Amino acid sequence: MSAAVEIAPGVRHYPAYLDRAGQEALRDEIRAVFAAAPLFVPRMPRTGKPFSVRMSNCGPLGWVSDEKGYRYQATHPETGAPWPPMPARLLAVWAALAPGAPPPEACLINLYDATARMALHQDRDEEELSAPIVSLSLGDTALFRVGGPTRGGPTRSFRLASGDAMTLGGPGRLAFHGIDRIYAGGSTLLAEGGRINLTMRRVSKA
Ligand code: SIN
Ligand code: FE2
Repeated sequence: MSAAVEIAPGVRHYPAYLDRAGQEALRDEIRAVFAAAPLFVPRMPRTGKPFSVRMSNCGPLGWVSDEKGYRYQATHPETGAPWPPMPARLLAVWAALAPGAPPPEACLINLYDATARMALHQDRDEEELSAPIVSLSLGDTALFRVGGPTRGGPTRSFRLASGDAMTLGGPGRLAFHGIDRIYAGGSTLLAEGGRINLTMRRVSKA
């Protein structure tokens, strides 16, 4: 485990938080999640335009998006099955990086191929905003952009590499953030290439 770098108030980056063995173990657990809760292509509210990432979830709740809007729900949008449980390894990361926060209820899993992006947005579909967002990255490096709580303000960019953790909490909880690009081919963790990002969230009021 490494020291945190405070990128902006409440935005903390933990380079190399997971060692290689930890990344491999988590990768294998996430593969098992994909087997139970297949990746789906989320769509933009109203327009139905597909996202460039594919998604799945684990935990009691999962984040989904389609023509009807963004929301959390207890079941997979295509199979109708409950989401698989959150691996203990993820709960341990939450306990370490979000001490004192109530347990996470959702872990959104984003799979990026070499051309995928994530537009600047806030994570604000949660009722409980006192708990941080805890993020882990696996596979190819991404260029992450983060700003403040209002759209259009100044932003900073930094790279998230395989094994890095990040938290958005306190004054950084509603920071705008997104992924500008993926540096394809830099990591050997995922045989098929690409990047997996996991974000754990507390959704309901504790
Ligand atoms: C997200 O904001 O949902 C994903 C961020 C990331 O991929 O690092
Ligand atoms: Fe986000």
